[in-house]
Amino acid sequence: MISKETIDKVFSVIRVEEIIGEYVQLKRAGSNFKGLSPFQDEKTPSFVVSPSKQIWKDFSTGKGGTAISFLMEIENFTYPEALRHAAKKYGIEIEETQAEQTEEQKAAQTEQDLLYKIHEVANNFFQEQMYDTEEGQNIGLAYFRERELREDIIRKFQLGYSPEQKNAFTAYALEKGYSKDILEKSGLSIFPENSSNGIDRFRERVIFPIHSFSGRVLGFGARILKNNVKTAKYLNSPETGIYHKSSVLYGLNQSKQSISRNNLCLLVEGYMDVIALHQAGIENVVSSSGTSLTTEQIKLIKRLTENVTILFDGDAAGIKASFRSIDMLLSEGMNIRVLLFPDGDDPDSFSRKHPQEFVENYIKNEATDFIDFKAEILLKEAGGDPIKKAEAIRDIVKSVAFVTNALKREVYLKEVSSKFGLSEQSLFNELGVQKQIAQQNQRSEAPKPQPKLEVVGETVFAVNPLIVLEEKLVELMLKYGDHVLTRSDHENQPYQITVIEEILAHFDEDGYEIQSPVNEKIISEIKSGIESDELRAGKFFLTLMDEEVSDRVADALLEPYENSDWSKHNIFFSKEQELVPKIIEDVIIRHKREFTVKMINDLKDTLKAEADNTETYMKILRLNQLKNEIDEALHRIL
Ligand code: UTP
Ligand code: MN
Repeated sequence: MISKETIDKVFSVIRVEEIIGEYVQLKRAGSNFKGLSPFQDEKTPSFVVSPSKQIWKDFSTGKGGTAISFLMEIENFTYPEALRHAAKKYGIEIEETQAEQTEEQKAAQTEQDLLYKIHEVANNFFQEQMYDTEEGQNIGLAYFRERELREDIIRKFQLGYSPEQKNAFTAYALEKGYSKDILEKSGLSIFPENSSNGIDRFRERVIFPIHSFSGRVLGFGARILKNNVKTAKYLNSPETGIYHKSSVLYGLNQSKQSISRNNLCLLVEGYMDVIALHQAGIENVVSSSGTSLTTEQIKLIKRLTENVTILFDGDAAGIKASFRSIDMLLSEGMNIRVLLFPDGDDPDSFSRKHPQEFVENYIKNEATDFIDFKAEILLKEAGGDPIKKAEAIRDIVKSVAFVTNALKREVYLKEVSSKFGLSEQSLFNELGVQKQIAQQNQRSEAPKPQPKLEVVGETVFAVNPLIVLEEKLVELMLKYGDHVLTRSDHENQPYQITVIEEILAHFDEDGYEIQSPVNEKIISEIKSGIESDELRAGKFFLTLMDEEVSDRVADALLEPYENSDWSKHNIFFSKEQELVPKIIEDVIIRHKREFTVKMINDLKDTLKAEADNTETYMKILRLNQLKNEIDEALHRIL
């Protein structure tokens, strides 16, 4: 956990325009900066950065927030990842909260840090060995050149070389002060029992560092250079305190931006396939590195896109692996297409044989729906055998049973039915059986995360005035929360109250229930802020990690009309700020009216169901009277 002090420090030091300036070309526009949206192709700039408010807003996609939320969007960082990234850029030291940590946890933490550190050291070592030694150039670099890799790509993937010498890295790391213990735990060195010296795990191999989502080195894959040697072609890091094979995808760090931009992730088998496709200009690609795809890996992809195309070479093992991956992907709600390469080609060889455009089109046009793919392969296998054919269809329906979305499931079932000329009913029955099996298999896995709370969309605002007004009240709290209003009480005595207090008091009246979950969240934060004596308006929320909340705050703080410089055209708006006391009074009373109408309608619904409904009836009458009074008051205000 990063300490609150560090978080505050980061937010006070970083400049939104500087952070965003690294990704978007910004031009001054009045008091703001403007640029082209990095999230969508556009010709007229609709991306606005406000240096004074330290927020950004992308009017083409509706996204917005702080410098930190920008990093989360563009790099697909988690909140702590984005904070660390920004802290590093500004040289801010990260302070971790360790209060609740036990000694054991602290030790584990330092061990983790050391593991990260030694991987960074090793990664640099292997690259230096390749570029700066004769052996490295003649053997390592020469190997990559022979495989037609360009230098920029070799650098992009930080490829390296481990020399022939038995303990080159181990000796280097010991010399630098790393302990035997940590070297052994990192998997980089091996210390045989009856020997006093350690040896390197990777020797005389080219090195492929494996990065985390955010770019830290977690482990290595190392390829042998000669094809005839009777040892594994690739040696990989073992499971360590930082490397968990099942939750890492090779290439994700280098490919994440392209995956989310293309809204598609290509899935390949090997290290070289990822690298070769990058060299061919196709950068939305990851590899599960020879192991079968796991749920955790799919979740990593899902942060970026729900669309996956599996690219496999057409050998039997590849096809088997793809079948398993298909079902895994389907049960995580992904959309899948599959592409087999022609005889003997893998993405690496294929992309070197053909120009980029051809490869792109090939992937786009030749990838087939998973049903067609399975059908083609299984039916070919079945030949004319009716029993085998039935078995094949059952296998396909089994995959359909993994589809989580009911509507999609039905569409797929229709497709199978028309493809094989079978009645939908019989397929439906089969689906039922298969679904039960699938669910039983799933139950043993970890519980699914709760679905995200639904944000009330614009269309709903338009038809539900109660929510529109609630939104407006929350917005007023965020913008002007600590403004002090002068009001007068029943005896016409003036008193002072802050905007937040006035609106909260209104919400607390009559047991009003907040209608939208995001507002609920914001309001409960404000309330707990008041209890601990800090007023919470606007900027406070920007340091909270909740994306929905910070989106809303950015919306409230940055008005669309700031987008264009109206004053240039001599158009002046009366400042909302000057009208605040009046606006708040107005919105509160309108909101109260809509709430009264809602209560009346709710009561009317219960009327019919009740045997003795006199009491409800009386309530409705009283509320109707209240509504009329409000209407009169509104009339006066207008
Ligand atoms: P491939 O043999 O297809 O690897 O195995 P590749 O990346 O295309 O390698 P090149 O083109 O021969 O250099 C697919 C993946 O399986 C894992 C690696 O992750 C490899 O990228 N693998 C393969 C191993 O871990 N160990 C092995 O011995 C072989
Ligand atoms: Mn290959």
